[in-house]
Amino acid sequence: MADLKIRIGELEFKNPVTTASGTFGFGEEYTDFMDLDRIGGIFTKGTTIRHREGNAYPRMAETPSGMLNAVGLQNKGVDYFISSIYPRIKDYDTNIMVNVSGSTIEDYVATAEKVNELDKIPAIELNISCPNVKQGGMTFGVSCAGAAEVVRAVRKAYSKTLIVKLSPNVTDIASIAQAVEEEGADSVSLINTLLGMAIDAETRKPYLSTITGGLSGPCVKPVALRMVWQVAKAVKIPVIGLGGIMNTADAIEFFLAGATAIQIGTANFIDPAISVKVVEGINEYLDRHGCSSIYDIIGALEA
Ligand SMILES: Cc1cc2nc3c(=O)[nH]c(=O)nc-3n(C[C@H](O)[C@H](O)[C@H](O)COP(=O)(O)O)c2cc1C
Repeated sequence: MADLKIRIGELEFKNPVTTASGTFGFGEEYTDFMDLDRIGGIFTKGTTIRHREGNAYPRMAETPSGMLNAVGLQNKGVDYFISSIYPRIKDYDTNIMVNVSGSTIEDYVATAEKVNELDKIPAIELNISCPNVKQGGMTFGVSCAGAAEVVRAVRKAYSKTLIVKLSPNVTDIASIAQAVEEEGADSVSLINTLLGMAIDAETRKPYLSTITGGLSGPCVKPVALRMVWQVAKAVKIPVIGLGGIMNTADAIEFFLAGATAIQIGTANFIDPAISVKVVEGINEYLDRHGCSSIYDIIGALEA
């Protein structure tokens, strides 16, 4: 059996398979289906400084080979996370990373400072790429200056592993990745959802209350792979790849493109145990290809 251990910043992962923010709750919702200690880590639902109701319904729509969502960062706020959720999940034998979202730089910093105090949370994922909120969110992630500004402020306030989640709704994602690397990010994760929309031709109305929403699932995989490949060549920090990973073969493609770890998102809604199956599949692939470590295939694309 090959060695699946990887490192992101200060942090060791028992294997490179993690679950994507907003698609896996806080992990506890999935314990009936799988052993959480068999995956490398969990990225929590986006957490903000204050409680957010999220957007009005309908906020999900199925699309060919994917889905649109406009949940709008519904959550009960970081204080509720700390008092009520953290005590329940802190002893899981896997890395738990909090996805920190916000509307202003001050919000991001205040949330990161609070999460910094939690012993059992070794990393945060800074979400500067949510397309479903009116203020903040993606606006920070679509320019080098905006991305750099928020990462600079959070880096001062947060001492542990800092992962920055990038938006695909840009023309040059590699330059944004370089900008956040320069400000001290330990890793980048990509991609968040692609901005899209769906229309009901009969009613002449949009399917989503917000009109536009974030596209995810198999339809985004070619875009995600291309961006992971471009970013992995442009930065020295490890890249976490995601977007449309539905099975082991998809995951392997991301490693070959240069990802050190992967996240599984929309696929959890189809098979809640998919992440464990992908861990097993990676093991089997590495054995079959005579590899002794996952690092043997990271960036090993022959092009
Ligand atoms: C219902 C839903 C909610 C999401 N919520 C968040 C969130 O709170 N924070 C975040 O950074 N990404 C969020 N995402 C984006 C996913 O983490 C992921 O980046 C995206 O769905 C692409 O991966 P996938 O194709 O494997 O789903 C959400 C996605 C979905 C489908």
